[in-house]
Amino acid sequence: MKSMVEQQQQHRSAAATKLFNAHIQFNDFVFYFLLFGFGLGLGITLSFYVKDINNSVDFQLDQLSSVSHPLLVPCSVPKPPPPPPPPPAFPSISNETNTETRISSLVIEPYLSPPPPPDVDPQSSSPPPPPPPQQPKIYSINEFFQPPETTAHNMTDQELFWRASMAPKIKQYPIKRVPKVAFLFLTRGKVSLAPLWEKFFKGNQGLYSIYVHSSPWSLNETVPPSSVFYGRWIPSKRVRWGEMNMVQAERRLLANALLDISNERFVLLSESCIPIFNFSTIYNYLINSKTSFVESYDLHGPVGRGRYNTRMEPVVTIEQWRKGSQWFEMDRFLALEVISDRTYYPVFRKFCKGACYGDEHYLPTFVSIHFPERTSNRTLTYVDWSKGGPHPFKFLRHDVTKEFLEMLRSFNNCYYNGRSDGICYLFARKFSPITLYRLLKFAPQVMYF
Ligand SMILES: *[C@@H]1O[C@H](CO)[C@@H](O)[C@H](O)[C@H]1NC(C)=O
Ligand SMILES: *[C@@H]1O[C@H](CO)[C@@H](O)[C@H](O)[C@H]1NC(C)=O
Ligand SMILES: *[C@@H]1O[C@H](CO)[C@@H](O)[C@H](O)[C@H]1NC(C)=O
Ligand SMILES: *[C@@H]1O[C@H](CO)[C@@H](O)[C@H](O)[C@H]1NC(C)=O
Ligand SMILES: *[C@@H]1O[C@H](CO)[C@@H](O)[C@H](O)[C@H]1NC(C)=O
Repeated sequence: MKSMVEQQQQHRSAAATKLFNAHIQFNDFVFYFLLFGFGLGLGITLSFYVKDINNSVDFQLDQLSSVSHPLLVPCSVPKPPPPPPPPPAFPSISNETNTETRISSLVIEPYLSPPPPPDVDPQSSSPPPPPPPQQPKIYSINEFFQPPETTAHNMTDQELFWRASMAPKIKQYPIKRVPKVAFLFLTRGKVSLAPLWEKFFKGNQGLYSIYVHSSPWSLNETVPPSSVFYGRWIPSKRVRWGEMNMVQAERRLLANALLDISNERFVLLSESCIPIFNFSTIYNYLINSKTSFVESYDLHGPVGRGRYNTRMEPVVTIEQWRKGSQWFEMDRFLALEVISDRTYYPVFRKFCKGACYGDEHYLPTFVSIHFPERTSNRTLTYVDWSKGGPHPFKFLRHDVTKEFLEMLRSFNNCYYNGRSDGICYLFARKFSPITLYRLLKFAPQVMYF
């Protein structure tokens, strides 16, 4: 083999020299110069392969200049196999969690697709050093259960609802998950009764999360950093009473709360709502309930079926039309269905306008059509309609007495998990900001918080 290669090299060398001398024109010179460079690189590369295959082949560098055409590469030198790709760097599995990572920003690609090996440069005279082993971040299951670090984000509704609609197909959680109650505040302006709620939440960290939809306020400007409401403002849009943008705000609250996989129950509240039991009573009542609490009933007459628009047919018929209180409480299953609805919400938005009051009909109708067995058909939020008019009665300072609060707590003939002696109301409205002082005063004596 050696002699054959050498013979060929010498023969070619002679031929090339002859050729070179014959034409010393400038263009030719450039051409041959390029050819020379190419040949040099090829030769160096070849020398490596040959060395690897057979150390006895003695390739002198000064001979390589004559290798000027790829076709002249000796056929007897087999093409070397491509070097095997570096093994994917699998760092040791760590069970540590990184609290800095937000669930919404999880990327699990790093070790599923290792970076492609760098291109081999045929001109280089030495093989590139192997890339230093990368240490991609390893995620543990715990991170998927950590709440997002902040409620701030720049997602559009479309983006947010898509993200929030993701749900695990395997229903059983792989780790012990402490379910939380999400308190969704849909407010006009400040949470005026915040000090009462602060008292209510005290000592129950880890069992609740708070979300505030208020426009145009940024909550940070109205509550101190020590408040449970601080930093809980979600990106909000303008809301008008009785319009479907109110329902969209409710769905926006649900979607934001769904981003925390530990949230299991979702209760809608306003700035004039108060809790009438302590946290442990409300938490146990909601977490252990087999149903959601979306009020839904069929009502003939102008404020019931009278608000139905026949253009909603055939998606919603008049027989399916329902009414109910806006103030819902629902489980995670129903919350996911509500934010994923792309059939009924658009029809309501288009045809439920003016004196239709979608906030009193969309959820009662949607839930009654698809999930009638999942709601108890009643609301957990007490309101006083006894004075008549389009709005419920608003309680002022002197309406708030011990007896009045005890009365609110005393309704106990409601169905709860199949029994008929359950507590009826956990929350009440509407309380004017000026009731705050008296509520704070009576809370420990009457409401046990
Ligand atoms: C994580 O690993 C350490 C040792 O590497 C161990 O002591 C600890 O119990 C592990 N934690 C979990 C949650 O598995
Ligand atoms: C949200 O923020 C990201 C990164 O800062 C940016 O690329 C994106 O355009 C923003 N989206 C919107 C809707 O503002
Ligand atoms: C509110 O405060 C929190 C906590 O400091 C911060 O993360 C968030 O960006 C603030 N939000 C606004 C709207 O200023
Ligand atoms: C909560 O209130 C109930 C009565 O409604 C009372 O029996 C219970 O002790 C209270 N729990 C706490 C932790 O104060
Ligand atoms: C709620 O009402 C629906 C009819 O709209 C009924 O099918 C369902 O059983 C009711 N739920 C309960 C818990 O009574």
